[in-house]
Amino acid sequence: MEKISEETLKNKADEMLDEAYVPYSRFPVGAALLTKDGQVFTGCNIENASYPLSICAERTAVFKAVSEGERDFEKLVVTGHTEGPISPCGACRQVLVEFCDPDMTVILTNKKGDIFNTTVSELLPGAFKEKDMEIN
Ligand code: THU
Repeated sequence: MEKISEETLKNKADEMLDEAYVPYSRFPVGAALLTKDGQVFTGCNIENASYPLSICAERTAVFKAVSEGERDFEKLVVTGHTEGPISPCGACRQVLVEFCDPDMTVILTNKKGDIFNTTVSELLPGAFKEKDMEIN
């Protein structure tokens, strides 16, 4: 399969800003998740009149991928119309911890192209994980 460049991944996240369903916040977010075998799963935020039912762009992308049987992820790009690189919410950070390697690259960016490169473990140090449920 053709290698997906970082630029392509950023462009795909960017395109998702136009798909976001954000009548309440008017704050579109786009995400693009690259699998280790070169597939891209995109996501946008999708809101609801019952606000807590809304889902973030990152989780849309992860859940699309996981629901298609994907478990091995290489890189995530998240973008928004923010002043600086967008900051993922706590819930999304926890979901990334569940499905991605701690050292997986996460590229936080914005429409202007500001970039903050980070990793899943940097985004949520000390995260609650499956092993934390072990007792004794
Ligand atoms: N949002 C995301 O999609 N990702 C984040 O990590 C931050 C927040 C969405 C949720 C909601 O639709 C809007 O941005 C405002 O919070």
